[in-house]
Amino acid sequence: MSDRYAVIGNPIGHTKSPLIHGLFAQETGQDMTYVAIEGPLEPENAFVDTVREFIAAGGKGMNVTAPFKLQAFAMSDERSERATLAGAINAMKFEDGRIIAENFDGVGLVRDIEENLHQPMAGKRVLILGAGGAVRGALLPFIAARPGEIVVANRDVEKAEGLVDQVMARDLLRACGYHALGSMGQFDLVVNATSASLTGQLPPVPSSVFSPTGGAYELAYGKGLTPFLRLARDAGVRTVADGVGMLIEQAAEAFAWWRGVRPQTRAVIDRLTVPLT
Ligand code: ATR
Repeated sequence: MSDRYAVIGNPIGHTKSPLIHGLFAQETGQDMTYVAIEGPLEPENAFVDTVREFIAAGGKGMNVTAPFKLQAFAMSDERSERATLAGAINAMKFEDGRIIAENFDGVGLVRDIEENLHQPMAGKRVLILGAGGAVRGALLPFIAARPGEIVVANRDVEKAEGLVDQVMARDLLRACGYHALGSMGQFDLVVNATSASLTGQLPPVPSSVFSPTGGAYELAYGKGLTPFLRLARDAGVRTVADGVGMLIEQAAEAFAWWRGVRPQTRAVIDRLTVPLT
């Protein structure tokens, strides 16, 4: 029997993960299946029961998406450091009766920025907008990329400060509100990790933060040219991207972790990219 994998979320109809992992399996010749499971929202323990049933039926691993990332974190036996800081996970491996948990969102994002968009972060000035779960997941991989400085800007400044305080890299990281950005000059990379784009809104970021030779990255994907990306493009930024590459790179990280072989991502990114117009 083929090894079994799945992505669990609710709703899950929109997921691209079965397509992505199917293409990876084909390319690397792995004997596996990967399906989407709509996880139950109630009763309270139903999510955990669904995961346990999948394991009992021979499941080897799962991706986890909203709204189950915290529940999945809680039911895991082992968690990586970045998953612990994120407080949420997006991938699980089932091994010898144990659930091992990882969060590949941040590494996937860094890989997309550095490898696919050719924007190495070492020594650079990086601005992250937002201080929610997406930023918690990205901070350790960002620090590992050794930028010169990371500024985390959020409407709720205390939330950004709380996040920065949790990370042992105080010389590198600072938190602020949007009003402070006007006097901070240009950043080589500006990442919109707020949920503003999901409702067509623009975080109150001044266009003076953008550098024409740098990059602007929108974590959301499939939304076309969001207000944030339009602002960046109008400011002359040449490299603007949405999160489709991150989605595929985090999938590749999970695939390599599960199967021990790293798939090529370029063709899959080209296939799933929606032009930013
Ligand atoms: P997630 O865990 O999915 O990242 P979250 O924890 O609710 O979601 O975080 C959403 C982030 O988007 C927060 O940083 C939020 O800012 P506040 O903490 O100040 O509320 C940010 N956000 C949402 N809408 C925004 C908007 N219109 N402008 C700026 N930031 C916004």
